[in-house]
Amino acid sequence: MPSGPDLPAVRPAAALVAGSTVLDEAVAVLAGGGLVALPTETVYGLAADATQEQAVAGIYAAKGRPGSNPLISHVEDFAAAERHGLFDAEAQALAAAFWPGPLTLVVPRRPGSPVAERTTAGLPTLALRVPASASMRLVAATLGRPLAAPSANRSGRISPTTAADVVADLGSRVALVIDGGPCRVGVESTIIGCFGDGPALLRPGGATVEAIEAVLGRPLRRPELDAARPSAPGQLLSHYAPAAAVRLNATSVAAGEALLAFGPQAVPGADRAIATLNLSPSGDLAEAAANLFTMLRALDRSGAGVIAVAPLPRTGLGLAIADRLARAAAPRPAT
Ligand code: TXA
Ligand code: MG
Repeated sequence: MPSGPDLPAVRPAAALVAGSTVLDEAVAVLAGGGLVALPTETVYGLAADATQEQAVAGIYAAKGRPGSNPLISHVEDFAAAERHGLFDAEAQALAAAFWPGPLTLVVPRRPGSPVAERTTAGLPTLALRVPASASMRLVAATLGRPLAAPSANRSGRISPTTAADVVADLGSRVALVIDGGPCRVGVESTIIGCFGDGPALLRPGGATVEAIEAVLGRPLRRPELDAARPSAPGQLLSHYAPAAAVRLNATSVAAGEALLAFGPQAVPGADRAIATLNLSPSGDLAEAAANLFTMLRALDRSGAGVIAVAPLPRTGLGLAIADRLARAAAPRPAT
């Protein structure tokens, strides 16, 4: 990976262990109000001390993110999560079943929690997650504060699943990048709201709806489907936007298009494609999720004007993949 004065320091996650100089370095940057990009099992996060208003303001500035879109607070374990949020029986059951892992729980904020107003965008609720990534949990535990961390990309762009993606997108806007290799899950966490009238799906992601409903023993509410207005403020429709246009459910390929295929079946006209990648030749949705953002970036670099995407099932991880693809295909706001 290139380095230089306009680029962040990059350190291997394997060197970030208890007592290490890399851990000291990461904690010092965060304690001083700076930004550190850390790997998680879903995507890379752009972390700041969630209790420092100015540090959190730095995240919004580095990403060019609207201040009305709240951030997830990452903590090392459930005990730490309970210091900041109020967990009812169902939220506790979900935390026990999925943490550490790709699930975010939005719960009422605990009175007296030092999490900054900017982290929650002033909401009375708080998004909490215990990531599977050992390095992020160790940094949060050593700092002794939750880490506010959105995906480590400029607002509206494709989420990063490698340290190189972070460096290419954010450059010196981030002080330090911890390189943990490619993210295992590849799509962001599932967000469940545990406040109000029963658990609600706010964003599909790396924990499947089927597995969550099996733990709850009842269906999730789906406010996204019920209301025109999204209930997670960040769920702006156009997102993950490559430079190329994205055409969904493509059953054939036109000249000049790139093809994002899925499964063993051939797509008519595939020989005309400028470039072809297959999310999972065997039709495995976990493999497809892990490849999704990397392959979208790669096909975007092919120079094709349009990326044609083959149909995928909307079950299991397919729901999160379909959600991200729909956002990549959505009409772009004029800039
Ligand atoms: O996997 C992930 O979740 C990654 C990694 C880094 O942990 N993070 C991530 O963060 O995807 P971000 O900022 O890209 O998405 C966070 C989402 C936003 O859509 C935001 O609106 C929602 O969480 N959110 C945060 N706090 C909320 C709250 N109190 N109520 C409803 N939605 C909330
Ligand atoms: Mg994001």
